[in-house]
Amino acid sequence: MTGPSDHRADHRADHRADHRADALVVRLRRAGCVFAEEEAALLLEDDPPEALLEARTARRCAGEPLEQVLGWAAFAGLRVAVAPGVFVPRRRSELLAREAVERAGRAQEAAQGRGGRAVVVDLCCGSGALALVVAVRVPGVEVHAADVDPAATACAAHNLQGLRVAGAGRRHVHTGDLFAALPRELRGRVDVLVVNAPYVPRGEVALMPPEARDHEPLLALDGGGDGLDVHRRVAAGAREWLSPRGVLLVETSTRQAEGTEDACRAGGLVPGTVTDEVLEAAVVVALA
Ligand SMILES: C[S@@+](CC[C@H](N)C(=O)[O-])C[C@H]1O[C@@H](n2cnc3c(N)ncnc32)[C@H](O)[C@@H]1O
Repeated sequence: MTGPSDHRADHRADHRADHRADALVVRLRRAGCVFAEEEAALLLEDDPPEALLEARTARRCAGEPLEQVLGWAAFAGLRVAVAPGVFVPRRRSELLAREAVERAGRAQEAAQGRGGRAVVVDLCCGSGALALVVAVRVPGVEVHAADVDPAATACAAHNLQGLRVAGAGRRHVHTGDLFAALPRELRGRVDVLVVNAPYVPRGEVALMPPEARDHEPLLALDGGGDGLDVHRRVAAGAREWLSPRGVLLVETSTRQAEGTEDACRAGGLVPGTVTDEVLEAAVVVALA
């Protein structure tokens, strides 16, 4: 049973929480955070101890991406762990995730009919966000994630190996340069090759928001002169790794889609482009 003094104590606690939230919003807004209310709510989630809240607020006010400060990013309905210095998965990549899930689902159905598993590779995986979405949404599929940056693969391993979902298939993480990271036995067996590689033209990296420029590795952003250097390397190597009915999915921009398609054609694939106006996203879908 609760009495009047309990209610007064509850009221005082609510008042303190409101004050804490208001003060945080003011501080975030002063630091230039456009979505200060939303960010404050996330920073206060789980009622962190004062010292932790202060440390996180200071990092955020100094310009670190909120996701790296919190340690997670919301992506395609999941919480993906993101470590400092690792690329933060972007909302626009949810188009790539959607395509990957759909194609992996079909491949898994066909593979199950033969008593096997579909194989999905997330190349240039960063935090492993795309691999994680596929592993969660397509039970049974064999997922490989690879990146050249050990900080990224440590984060991807945390996301994928910590996954506890019923029926989840095998998950593997590899560190190395593009296909060189993958086990040789995957050659000719990859049903869905998912790639969100860097594709910002080198001259435009300096125009990106400071959150990206200062807190994400250049290696994760810089795609060379026209932004398509890594796309050309991926497209040139993909056919050797794809299964006979395999598909390469590459995130690009609408402006660069033609160049990404050309790279796929040069690699002996048959490309087309899907777009999503709401997400302002484009994905080249290239068939083996
Ligand atoms: C734009 S980020 C995308 C990360 C992740 N796929 C996502 O969507 O959140 C590009 C990633 O490509 C990786 N990368 C760049 N060059 C690479 C290479 N030659 N081989 C493997 N990974 C590479 C970077 O380390 C970075 O993690």
